[in-house]
Amino acid sequence: MVVHVFKTPEELAQAAAMVFAAQIAKKPDTVLGLATGSTPVGTYRELARLNRLGLIDFSEVRTYNLDEYIGLEPTHDQSYRYFMNDNLFNHINIKMENTHVPCGTGADHWADARAYDEAVEAAGGIDLQLLGIGHNGHIGFNEPNDKFIYGTNIVKLTRSTIDANKIYFPTEDDMPKEAISFGIGGIMKAKAVILLALGKGKAQAIHDTVHGEIDPKCPASILKAHPNTIIMVDEAAGSML
Ligand code: PGA
Repeated sequence: MVVHVFKTPEELAQAAAMVFAAQIAKKPDTVLGLATGSTPVGTYRELARLNRLGLIDFSEVRTYNLDEYIGLEPTHDQSYRYFMNDNLFNHINIKMENTHVPCGTGADHWADARAYDEAVEAAGGIDLQLLGIGHNGHIGFNEPNDKFIYGTNIVKLTRSTIDANKIYFPTEDDMPKEAISFGIGGIMKAKAVILLALGKGKAQAIHDTVHGEIDPKCPASILKAHPNTIIMVDEAAGSML
């Protein structure tokens, strides 16, 4: 695990986008694992800019997102499919059919979870996995737990996550309390992982990830056992390192 601390979120976004550019230059049909939330927005903006300049070509790239709320249609403006289209896919030359977000509205969520893992396997696995981190150390929606959950799974969101994300919904009652999330096993199988964190609210989780024991109570701590993980933080998120 290597840790880079950046002075500003803009510098972090530029550096993170460069990691993606290098990966896609090396393997044009790269399989990306992508994340939602406020943290990657600057990186997505930078990727769109580099794509406009002709410096990254997404035409053969395939993507698999980490998670989706249970019960939100892809057209809902707080669904993660909507977020990805709005923040990235509509601004780059990716083929929409090559983009994948777990389905949160199927009849059998566990069947959808298994199918998602099979689809990622069939695509050859994730080459580069982008992650944010929750205040509680979650990655994807893999919340603190007594054990690490291997496969894509259906998760009950914790109070910490509900508090962090309810601001995007008219009221807390409108926010789904369950999600479908790519599992820790899928993340750990990625050939490379890049975890981004911004702001003081993430300082404890970053500290526990980098300096704590590997412990499912801080799901991101498992990344210590990953052979190729880069953690990029701004000074606030890195303030407890
Ligand atoms: P955030 O969410 O980027 O909106 O802080 C990150 C996460 O919960 O993984």
